[in-house]
Amino acid sequence: MTTALTHLGDISVEEFLRDYWQKKPLLIRQAFPDFESPISGEELAGMALEENIESRLIEEHGSEGPWQLRNGPFAEEDFFNLPKSHWTLLVQAVDQWIPEVAELKEKFRFIPDWRLDDIMISYAADQGSVGPHYDFYDVFLLQAEGKRRWHLGAKAASGSLRVEETNLNILREFEAESSWLLEPGDMLYLPPQFSHWGIAEGGCTTISVGFRAPSARTLLEDLAAELAMGLPDHIRYTDPDLTIPANPSEIDGESVARVQKQLSEWLQQPQNIAQWFGAIMTEAKYPDTIALDAGTAEDWRDQLAEGASLILNPGSRCAFCRDPQTLFIDGESFPAPLLFAEAFCNSRTLSAADLDTHPELVGENGLIDQLVSQGSLIYPEGEEDWDEEE
Ligand code: SIN
Ligand code: CO
Repeated sequence: MTTALTHLGDISVEEFLRDYWQKKPLLIRQAFPDFESPISGEELAGMALEENIESRLIEEHGSEGPWQLRNGPFAEEDFFNLPKSHWTLLVQAVDQWIPEVAELKEKFRFIPDWRLDDIMISYAADQGSVGPHYDFYDVFLLQAEGKRRWHLGAKAASGSLRVEETNLNILREFEAESSWLLEPGDMLYLPPQFSHWGIAEGGCTTISVGFRAPSARTLLEDLAAELAMGLPDHIRYTDPDLTIPANPSEIDGESVARVQKQLSEWLQQPQNIAQWFGAIMTEAKYPDTIALDAGTAEDWRDQLAEGASLILNPGSRCAFCRDPQTLFIDGESFPAPLLFAEAFCNSRTLSAADLDTHPELVGENGLIDQLVSQGSLIYPEGEEDWDEEE
């Protein structure tokens, strides 16, 4: 990775990672100079009508109470009936559907791809906001259109009190330590748990490049299940060093140390950990939408021979590891030559030439057959039109 910079203002990527990433907020004025929003409020509303797209509407003074949350898909009437101000529409994973939005992810590859969750885009009417809250993930908030005033509070303690009767994690108490008005192209980076409150000044569109970090609970549950599956029943707790216990009812320090040591031995399998971690970190956010693109495995050979390409489904995730040489796609791991896996993860495209030197991948029921039939590899297609008014 080069040290050249484009979107962190005057700071280098190295400085950003050392001083800010996961540590403290950073405001970057004109991170994206002359920025033009890749999506209009109408298009966003059009997306929120779709069944496969996750969307939410938040009204500060809803008919059913303050901070009313409704989940999509929505009907056109839902938008016609909204008040003039104080509401926000949020649409998840817009990068999966709009190539110009997906392109933005290229600018954030100084963080590994598999840390990125999705690009969420919000459209807010004047004074619209989702209330003062904090999130458990890092986020870059890029102002796309209009203006939003961000109020930033302290790093919240995980037990901070929330407003009851909402599912929005709205903080009961919020005190701003800084406030900034963001205009198109300005970007605010927030580490996890910093409380924030962004209020639209006029209609505005904000792009959230959100990251993800699996919880310790998820990791341990999943890893334990995975490792347990590979452990034969005869591997047991052992204590050949046992001496006469001071008290036979006691779980003594020696026993605890023994079990700790044995647990860590069962965990000392870096290759297994890499394979398990690669698989869980590439699980698709919306696997059902990938399955919808499942193709016929036989077709692709003719198509590629005629000069077509296959691309990674924009809703898919991929990564690779070098030891053992593995390509991970949508939660599955496939043994694959390192050069191939590395090139594919970077280009996310496959043409006949990329496969010339890898006959083992193109055979019947081989890697490409599997990826095409599960919907992870698809043909590039034209853009969809999300404008609800058309
Ligand atoms: C928004 O775009 O309105 C909300 C983003 C956030 O506060 O996390
Ligand atoms: Co937030």
